Amino acid sequence: MLNYPRVAIDFMNNDHAEFVALRKHLLDLLHMGADHTQVDAMLDQLLEHTRRHFTEEEELMLSVQFPPYPMHKGEHDKVLADMVSRIETWKVTRNAKDISSWLEHAVRDWFVNHVSSMDFVTAAYIQARS
Ligand SMILES: [Fe+2]
Repeated sequence: MLNYPRVAIDFMNNDHAEFVALRKHLLDLLHMGADHTQVDAMLDQLLEHTRRHFTEEEELMLSVQFPPYPMHKGEHDKVLADMVSRIETWKVTRNAKDISSWLEHAVRDWFVNHVSSMDFVTAAYIQARS
């Protein structure tokens, strides 16, 4: 289980739980040696989920003129670019060990860290102003 805090905005908590479930599902598929097409579909879903979630957070931040918006948005952009390139690499190399290790470690560390810091502070700021 990933250890991360609840934040002050409900849709963010729901999205975070969904992200955790998608990551777990992907790791399970990879560990059981599932078909590439199944893994591809789940990776696309993870990317789509992340893109949508980031956009929603960003729209909310803009609507309340959240001062550290550029910093938070910058991290979203960096994470999305990394995710896109990892998925592209997987589709070329089909290296299950690499993509599993990325999901297991880098994605876990980024997620826990991002939710505990940026999302936590952002949600508290937005909630206090709505
Ligand atoms: Fe965020």
